[in-house]
Amino acid sequence: MIGRLNHVAIAVKDVAAASAHYRDRLGAEVSSPSSLPEHGVTVAFVELPNTKIELLEPLGADSPIARFLEKNPDGGMHHLCYEVDDILSARDRLIAAGARILGDGAPKIGAHGKPVLFLHPKDFSGTLVELEQA
Ligand code: CO
Repeated sequence: MIGRLNHVAIAVKDVAAASAHYRDRLGAEVSSPSSLPEHGVTVAFVELPNTKIELLEPLGADSPIARFLEKNPDGGMHHLCYEVDDILSARDRLIAAGARILGDGAPKIGAHGKPVLFLHPKDFSGTLVELEQA
């Protein structure tokens, strides 16, 4: 059911500093940071040949990343995003298999303008999983 690894998201305190580390130390191509107030993050993308790394800095008081950074002050891997062809059929299959969907179960428009869902980390080896309709 799942296809490509769309991105690995890393929560960071300072997206400019994290971008510089990827650019200067690892020689990666990194996009300019962009603020997404509706998602509570400022994001920059490290473009790799086979996937992307999404660097997420909290934006605003209700940022979904803020609590994670309180627990992980150095930052850390926040979620993996896999592509699916049909997000509603993926969701229904997961629910039938006993997996839990976060929130109200309805896909939301994600940081790339495509429908996304998040799956409970306890059902996937302690890893928050995002599904994005490709
Ligand atoms: Co993501």
